[in-house]
Amino acid sequence: VKPRNYIGLANTVHDPALAIVDSRGEVVFAEAAERSLGFKRAFFCPPDDPMRVRELLDTYCEPGAELVVAHSWLERRWKSVLFRAGWHFTRASVSPLLRPTILGQMNSFDLASLSLDYRLHEADPARAPVEKRYFDHHLAHAAAAAFASPFNEAVCAIIDGQGETAPDSFFHYRGGGFASLRSWRWRSFSRSGSLGVFFAALCVACGFDPMKGEEWKVMGLAPYGQKDARLYGLMRGLLRVEGLEVLGNNWQIISKLHALKPPKGRAPLESRDVAFTGQLVFSEVAAELLRNLHRLGLGDSLVLSGGCALNSAFNGRVTEETPWKKVFVYCAPADDGNAVGAALLAHREDNPGTSPPAKVASPYLGSRLSASSREGVQSLGKLRNTRPAGVPVTLYAAQLIAQGKIVGWAQGRAEYGPRALGNRSILADPRAADVKDRLNATVKFREEFRPFAPSILHEHGAEWFEQYQDTPYMERALRFRPEMAPKVPGVVHVDGTGRLQSVSRELNPRYHELISHFYRLTGVPMVLNTSFNVMGKPIIHSVEDALAVFFSSGLDALVLEDDVYEKG
Ligand SMILES: [Fe+2]
Repeated sequence: VKPRNYIGLANTVHDPALAIVDSRGEVVFAEAAERSLGFKRAFFCPPDDPMRVRELLDTYCEPGAELVVAHSWLERRWKSVLFRAGWHFTRASVSPLLRPTILGQMNSFDLASLSLDYRLHEADPARAPVEKRYFDHHLAHAAAAAFASPFNEAVCAIIDGQGETAPDSFFHYRGGGFASLRSWRWRSFSRSGSLGVFFAALCVACGFDPMKGEEWKVMGLAPYGQKDARLYGLMRGLLRVEGLEVLGNNWQIISKLHALKPPKGRAPLESRDVAFTGQLVFSEVAAELLRNLHRLGLGDSLVLSGGCALNSAFNGRVTEETPWKKVFVYCAPADDGNAVGAALLAHREDNPGTSPPAKVASPYLGSRLSASSREGVQSLGKLRNTRPAGVPVTLYAAQLIAQGKIVGWAQGRAEYGPRALGNRSILADPRAADVKDRLNATVKFREEFRPFAPSILHEHGAEWFEQYQDTPYMERALRFRPEMAPKVPGVVHVDGTGRLQSVSRELNPRYHELISHFYRLTGVPMVLNTSFNVMGKPIIHSVEDALAVFFSSGLDALVLEDDVYEKG
């Protein structure tokens, strides 16, 4: 019998991604298309990048495997839903001249998987037939997250922009299966309120661009502001929670919030009260939904996913503001994560009863750095490995960081999801008060109000954070203990929180070792971790990308696996 492998496609117009699940149900590869394309969020690009899909299948599929392709939207509806979503996006934020081009592309979006089929036939006719399956968009969100969680049983809340029938969905996860907890029918765009649409429109209201994924800036800016009563009245009136449903009119949400858009050239800090009030309204509505969900009496474990689960400020407050006691948020809660969700659902259909191990899944599922490119670096003549023989790379890098150097650190497989979690990261000393300014001015070239995050040894989490929760994917912001915050000014945001990553030996032994060395050198069990990219670009994908950032920025050192390169 031939083994069966499952190719999951996250095939929304934004954040396309591809995942491969083997015959045992293991996720052997998962990566967003933006990384290899160097195009942040990869709007309107196919998930199966024609330039590399063959290579990925050859590398990660079992030899001779029969392939099943799994989409993350239901067949009948997804085209029209995507079309509507795209129309709304383009209507809202794209110049009239470009609209016909983009709409034309959206109509032919199905090319994504057709081209995959075609290439497979062409490459190896024996590999055909390729079977295609289509899964509910929110079920794919739920599957990716629940199967990666440490729970055997939980309630999944998918709070999103839009699915086939509604912006949000809720499932009871038990025994590896999902039961829908949603009881209402489809509502038109003008008769429902979407928290995802609200936050994207809030992003515009603050002067940022959701098409570029600038929602992060809203969260960074919010703590600088305060509640504005007039804005609160306006925004809160746009969304109303009834049971498990948010009512409102998405068109109205868009038009009212877009009307707040600041004139070009105004300083972002001027929008801080808009950001604060919007984040407050988002949190109130989401918390009300989650409180209503808890009333169903299905336990205290919550799996949170969908695009709105990227709101790390809210994620960190769920256990305080709702009765949920344990909260798990997936490493890729937005649409890129659905490649894994769809592939696992397809595997589960063929192998009913297989339960995934109830432990936190690894986010390190992406590409490796090419070995030949790494060797090539050494023959450039310009760079040589400065790490002394016999000194482990983790110790040497920790020494550099403790000396105040800014280090680009690339090792192992790339992270799945939007966060750099210690494999494609820029690392620095969190004790230095000026480190934020140095990073912003010379490396990241980004706004001064955006915070930097700490990666902390999990075993020291409770010493440094109030109400510490394991945060393996940098998915929530928690409050620093007031007596500890002054020791690490580089990673404390203006409201006293930090969007931490809990680093465990189990998920990332090498990164854990680096921070352990830093702890022995300094007494501080954490480093500053920011994604290895420059503003506006996705996280680095290749050795060449890493070199480009190294040479064009103020990075002091570059670590590629075991090799260390230093400037000056
Ligand atoms: Fe989604």
